[in-house]
Amino acid sequence: MFRSILWKGGLIGLVAVCCIGLIVVNGNSHGPKSLPVTENALLADSRVPLQARSILERACGDCHSDNTVSPWYADVPPVSWQIHSDVARGRATMNLSKWSEYSDGKRRGFMMAILAATKARAMPPPMYVWMHGNAKLSAADLKELEKWALAETRLRSQNGKGSSR
Ligand code: HEC
Repeated sequence: MFRSILWKGGLIGLVAVCCIGLIVVNGNSHGPKSLPVTENALLADSRVPLQARSILERACGDCHSDNTVSPWYADVPPVSWQIHSDVARGRATMNLSKWSEYSDGKRRGFMMAILAATKARAMPPPMYVWMHGNAKLSAADLKELEKWALAETRLRSQNGKGSSR
């Protein structure tokens, strides 16, 4: 008797959660799909070396560019809220699709922040890496990013100003 009440309660709960999910999916104007999405190459007209560029595209593009590729579960609340918020905040912090619009100083600042965040394994976020195995940065990847920074620094000391275009 008690067991069957538990069962029914559980079932009703499950149905309720699914209904809420469906309602929110259908009326979810804040989903990742409502964010503009492009497929342009990142950092295309920049001097960022190809290797560093492809690492950033692979590991950071989903949140820090307009090239977000949404997995199926990106439409299922409450996961969709978290993903939408990550992408919106990620793009607002640094959008690699807009690299050419940033000033020299800003690009340099981002470059240093990218190095710091990747070395500290704060970026890409561990939770994201857990879901997207290919976003994991290898020691070689970190080396490539460092090479980019070193090349930039050398260039700047050569001509006195330089840029991270
Ligand atoms: C799952 C989405 C996601 C991915 C993937 C991701 N980021 Fe972020 N990133 C964010 C969010 C969200 C913020 C803003 C953090 C905040 O608001 O506190 C952020 C902030 C940053 C910042 C600002 C400084 C800081 O540490 O807060 C840098 C730099 C950064 N990310 C670099 C990267 C790089 C480089 C990669 C790829 C190697 C990457 N991110 C991948 C979501 C992401």
